[in-house]
Formats: sequence, structure tokens, C-alpha cells
Amino acid sequence: MKSAKLVFDGKEYELPVEVGTEGEVGLDITKLRAQSGAITLDPGYANTGSCRSDITFIDGEAGILRYRGYPIEQLATQAMFSEVCYLLIYGELPNKEQFAAWRRGLSQHSFIHEDMLKFFEGFPTNAHPMAILSSMICALSAYYPLEHTEEGVRLNIMRLLAKAKTIAAFTYKKSIGQPVMYPISSYSYAANLLRMMYATPSEPYEVPKVLENALNTLLILHADHEQNCSTSTVRMVGSSQARLFACMAAGINGLWGPLHGGANQAVIEMLEEIKEQGGDYKKFLQQVKDKKAGVRLMGFGHRVYKNFDPRAKIIKKAADDVLNHIGMEDPSLDIAKNLEEAALADDYFVERKLYPNVDFYSGIIYRAMGIPVEMFTVFFALGRLPGWIAQWKEMREDPATRIHRPRQIYTGATQRDFVPMDQRS
Ligand code: ACO
Repeated sequence: MKSAKLVFDGKEYELPVEVGTEGEVGLDITKLRAQSGAITLDPGYANTGSCRSDITFIDGEAGILRYRGYPIEQLATQAMFSEVCYLLIYGELPNKEQFAAWRRGLSQHSFIHEDMLKFFEGFPTNAHPMAILSSMICALSAYYPLEHTEEGVRLNIMRLLAKAKTIAAFTYKKSIGQPVMYPISSYSYAANLLRMMYATPSEPYEVPKVLENALNTLLILHADHEQNCSTSTVRMVGSSQARLFACMAAGINGLWGPLHGGANQAVIEMLEEIKEQGGDYKKFLQQVKDKKAGVRLMGFGHRVYKNFDPRAKIIKKAADDVLNHIGMEDPSLDIAKNLEEAALADDYFVERKLYPNVDFYSGIIYRAMGIPVEMFTVFFALGRLPGWIAQWKEMREDPATRIHRPRQIYTGATQRDFVPMDQRS
């Protein structure tokens, strides 16, 4: 399979075919417009490959997700999040020495510049934590030099990963009016984050192992997902050679929407609404199926996964483990399980291949951990950060990268003459 043929307007065009290591096939149209004058039209880019990438492989039909070749099921249960960060960014699992140096670097850089604390004071107490996170990550650009050299890139990547969790925890402390807590170098990423959120200067907080493990798993499950909305945003902004922190702030904002990372917050709000209305999940499903109602079953459906989302399977089990350990009964979990069962047996969802995605159960775990609903997407962003960084780095190092600049089919008015104000009807 070397090329494909396109017949357009009586002429034949040969399109080179590119095949990936897992057999994915792409028709290369880079010369199509120059040769034929035509462009392709693909709203939402569902059939468009925007780059070549060695980072993450997804087979949506088979429910497969691998980072750098390693199955998500193995990483989520056996690896540490900081190890997965290294794997995604540098392509290989770190050996002992590399990992020790990596962790040392991450802890050395985990403090934020004391001047940045003033920014937190400026935000209103009810500000959405995603607004604060994206602003603070972008503000890092004002404190650290542009990554001109490879060493500069390495340092800024380290700074970003290390400081983001501190910024996230400070955001939470700000929202509840408590003094901030500083990171402790010997703690894991997940334990540090939870401790910075829940300890106070007068009361220490012993991070329960089960919560540390569950958070570690969640962060790994979120760590990369190839060319999704926020990652494509990072690559889009990065293609103009904007600096690392600015690209990451753009990714955070791309993630925020309810159709993407904001879905974990939207799922809990949906479950709460069903609960408040008497728990009638069947009635809610009827509303979802009635297109006029404009209601979606949040946490269901995915652009790529059409059989199951492997991350949702792992998360469902983690949700059970956390709730069992805490001894907490969450009626929302029962509603979620009932909704899932009813939807999976319903023709509407079966025909459209709609299955629970990663966000369907993640909010339930976050809530059991005591994390406020508005912080859920912040946790997603912390998990996705290494993926964004890896994709940004790959894009930067790829000689094929050009500034991203899609075309369009113009459908507006054709040329017309300006009408002065007093002559307009
Ligand atoms: N509830 C009800 N119907 C749905 C849902 C849903 N959650 N998702 C898709 N559909 C229906 C659509 O109405 C459409 O029906 P139609 O063919 O009769 O018009 C069909 O399924 C296809 O849906 P699209 O919107 O075209 O699918 P797309 O790939 O563009 O969207 C998305 C994917 C955004 C994830 C969508 O399924 C959705 O809105 N889900 C709910 C939000 C959500 O959970 N987002 C998180 C995704 S995971 C992540 O980003 C981390």
C-alpha cells in the first residue's frame, strides 16, 4: 500500500499513504491544495491526523490505551505518577539513578516564588480554581527565563511539573481562607498534594495510603490521551513557538470545558440534580434521549472509544476501593451505577456506541477524598500536564512542524459595497 488515488474534477491525484507502527493508515494530503486547488473539510478534525507521534497509542474499537508502548492497566497499578511523567516526556522508564535525580529535581523546584503569593490575594474568594490555575501557570513566564537551550527546556519542564501541584494546593487553601502549606521533599507527588491541601500549620495530616494510591492511579490515567482538544490546543499554540508556560495555560483552558475535562464536575452536578429530584434516573435518561431537551448524559461517550474506555474500568474499581476503605456510602455512586446499567442496555446508547468515559466515576473518588467539586478539573489538569509537556517537546523537536494554520470553506456574503449609516434601513 504505497499510495491512494483521488479523482477530482476529471483529474487523478496520487496521495502517498503513511502507515504507523500499529497499522494506522493516513492519506497524506500535504500537497493536495497546491496540486488541485481543493482542500479537505473535516469539522471537529475527526478524520484528520495533525502530526506523527511516538507518545500514546489508542485503539478506540478495542479499548486499548498505551503510553510509549506500556499498557495503561500495568502503569496504573504498578507505576508512580512521577515515573510516568518521566516516561512520557523522555520516552523510556527511568532507571534508579535517573529516577532519584528526577525526584530530587522535582522536590527542589516545588516551591513557588514568594512574590507569586500576592497574586492569590488578588483573586476573589469564589474564583473558579481553573481560572486561578491557568493564570498562575501563565504567570510563571514572568519569573523564569525563556527556554532557549536544551538545559533551559529541561529546567522549565521540571519547574512546571513541580510547581503546578503547589499552585493547585495553594488555590484550594485560598478558597477556604487557610494559610498555605509548603511541600515536603520526601513525599510522593500524590501524598504531597493531599498534604498541602489538608494539613494546617497547627494540625498535621497523615495521608492515608489508600487515598495516595487512588490519586496516583487517577493522575496516571489522565496523563496523556494523544491529540484531544486540550493537547491539540497546546500543539496549536506551541506551533507559533510560544513559550512552554503559555502553551500549558492554553491547554488548561482547553481542558476546562464541560465536554472535555470539565465533565468530571458536570457528572457530579448531574448526579446531584437527579438525587434532588428523587433519584429517578430512568426519567433522566428519557430526557437525554429527547434531543429537544438538550440534556447529555455527562461522563458518557467519547470521540475515540467506541466499545469501552479502559480508564473507566480501572476508575470504577478504584471508586469502590476508596468508598469501602472510608466506609462512606455515597448515594451518587448508586445512581451512577444504575444510570450506567440502564444506558448500556438502552438502544439509544448502544446504537451510538456510547459508554462511560474516564470522567463518569472520577468525580465520585475525588469527592470521597474531600476534594471540592470545583477542584476536580484542576486534578485532571495536574494529571494531564506531563502529556501536554511530552507533546509540546515532541512538536518542538519535530522538523516537520509548521505553524498550525487550517483553512476553511468560506460561506459568508460575497463582495458588496459599504452603505453609509444614514442610508441603511
Ligand atoms: N449523551 C447523550 N447523547 C450523546 C452523548 C451523551 N453523553 N454523547 C454523544 N451523544 C449522541 C449525540 O447526540 C449524537 O447523536 P445523533 O447521532 O443522534 O445526533 C451521537 O451521540 C454522536 O455524538 P457527537 O456529539 O457527534 O460525538 P462527538 O464525538 O462529537 O462527542 C463527546 C464526543 C464530546 C465526548 C460527547 O460524547 C459528549 O458530549 N459526552 C458528554 C461529555 C463528556 O463526558 N465529556 C468527557 C469526554 S472524556 C474527556 O474529554 C476526558
